[in-house]
Formats: sequence, structure tokens, C-alpha cells
Amino acid sequence: MAIDYKKEIKRLKGILDVTVVAHYYQRDEVFEMGDIVGDSLELAKKSREVDSKWIVFCGVGFMGQSVKILAPHKRVLMPKVACCAMARMIDAVYFDDSVKYMEEHGVPREAILPITYINSDAAVKAKVGEMGGLVCTSSNAFRIIEKGLESGKKILFVPDRCLGQNFANSMGLKSCVIGEGECNPKEADIICFNGFCSVHQYFTLEDIHFYRERYPDIKIAVHPECDPVIVDAADFSGSTSQLIKYITELDPEQKVAVGTEYNLVNRLRPNNTFILSSTKPECPTMNETTLEDLYLVLKSIEEGAPINEVLVEEHIAYHASLALERMMESS
Ligand code: 13P
Ligand code: SF4
Repeated sequence: MAIDYKKEIKRLKGILDVTVVAHYYQRDEVFEMGDIVGDSLELAKKSREVDSKWIVFCGVGFMGQSVKILAPHKRVLMPKVACCAMARMIDAVYFDDSVKYMEEHGVPREAILPITYINSDAAVKAKVGEMGGLVCTSSNAFRIIEKGLESGKKILFVPDRCLGQNFANSMGLKSCVIGEGECNPKEADIICFNGFCSVHQYFTLEDIHFYRERYPDIKIAVHPECDPVIVDAADFSGSTSQLIKYITELDPEQKVAVGTEYNLVNRLRPNNTFILSSTKPECPTMNETTLEDLYLVLKSIEEGAPINEVLVEEHIAYHASLALERMMESS
């Protein structure tokens, strides 16, 4: 007989010392099983605060890793160890190359303050931590960059060039992207690594024009991982939680087109809500996790043979935790 995954997951959650954590981009049926849901910052904060021994994290690799680093005594498992494509764009070697680029262009190492978006591997966070830098998420980037600027240093922002440029623009700062046109680190405040989220590149100015022409009063709300021209042309930009808050507080008759992953957009509001793209903005890695995967990982705890445990090498975890804790203190 086929297993009723929902029923089994609920049974296992009832008998195990476990918290199931789910990001907003998860499939609906997986998301519904979450005891804790939220954006990256909320998930990192809340996961370390709960007192269960086991955390089962439905999201992408850097999220599970961050919880393990912030709460090393917890056992963190992931139904699918899926890696965010943007996080994959930078590793420790590319990070060192970026620092070298700045040095070769007249900015000494001591004058560089690195900030990494949380969408990065622990090894990159460790490099950032070693240099006195911080982690940020899309919900606290403004505050973290402000904090970073207090050092009087040039900010090296990795890996998301869009997030770096968008916050630089909103703060009236000068930015440039390494490898894209002229990037003179001496003349910019924020020097960005050339990474991006392919899902958030789906949204174009044509999409915005299409909706504005059809519905002149429509609001456009996007995630700051979108290209700066999109964020500039939008009415609102914010993290996944901030987008949800903005959209759910709109008048029910107010039309809105949303530029972020479709699982989040689909469950927002029954009417007057559109996906800001003719191509389905689906994050392949977030969508990898199925109910069956969640069931199997919970079952493995019950059977005393846990699978897909997140482990981070001690020296990497130590330095990465410095960068993560600096973010926690400042947000
Ligand atoms: P949030 O921190 O806004 O949830 O974003 C995570 C993410 O990966 C967006 O693509
Ligand atoms: Fe990574 Fe983009 Fe997916 Fe977010 S939507 S997890 S940044 S690939």
C-alpha cells in the first residue's frame, strides 16, 4: 500500500524531538509541514532558538549550514542537500582572487571589509570572518552595509552583484562589479563579485511595461536579487518576508505583480496577484525537496540512522561563525 506521507510526517513529528523548518520557496505540500517558516534571517534566528535536538531543514544547503554553524550542538538534517546556484558561483579561491583584484588596483587588504550574502558556502563565510567581515541577508543588508561603512573601509560584496548594487543605489553609494566594464575599487564604495541568481534574472523591463500598460495602477514588488534596473522600476523591493508583508497589507482590490519565486507568489493572495514573468520563475534547487524526502529523513531519525546530516569542518565553522555572529549582533 502507498505510504500517506503527510500522515506519516505528522506522526513522526509527534514522537521525535524535532523541528521542521521550511523556506517560503518550498513546494506547498512541504511548506505546510514546517513548524517554522520564514526568510533566511528569520529561519537562522528561530532555528537556533528552538530547543529540539533535531532540526530538519527544508531549503538549500547554505541555510542548513548556517544553522549548524550558529547552533553546533544541534543535529541538522536536510531532506535534500540542494545547493543554491548563486552560492555555487563563489568559493574560497574566487574570494581570494577578488581580494587580490582590489589589492592590485590600489586597495590594501587592511582597507577591505568583506560582506557576504548569506547565500554562500561556509568556506566563503570563513574567509569573510577571518578578515573581520560580516554576513548579511536580503532583509538586513541595509543595516549591515551601514555598519560595515563605519569601519571606513571599502566594502567587497560577494557573491550577488545585484543585491550589492541595489543596496548601494538605495544608500546613494558608488558601486562597481569586478569583471564588468571599468571597475576601479579606489573610486567605488562597494565592489561587487559578479554572481547572480538566475531565477531572479527572469524579470525584465518588458514584463514591468506589460503590466503597467495593462493595469496602470498596478504595484510592482520584487526581491533585491533582481537586476538593479528592475528594482529601480519597481514600487517595492524586499526580502521574502518583507514582500509577503507588503503584499498582504495591500487593499484586496489592489493589483500587484511580484518578482520572486513562484511557490511564494502562488500562496500569497487569491486574487489580483500576478507573477512578473511569462517564464515560470522556479528555483530548481528549492523545488528538489519532496514530501517523500522529508518523510525519509524523519524516518531515518526514528530508526537511529540519520541521513543527510549537515556537518561543517571545525576551523571553517569557527571563522564562519564570527561573520554570522557579527550579523546577528547588528540585526
Ligand atoms: P530571503 O532571505 O529573502 O528569504 O531570500 C532567500 C533567497 O534565496 C532568495 O532567492
Ligand atoms: Fe539561490 Fe536563487 Fe534559488 Fe534563492 S532563488 S535559493 S538565490 S538559486
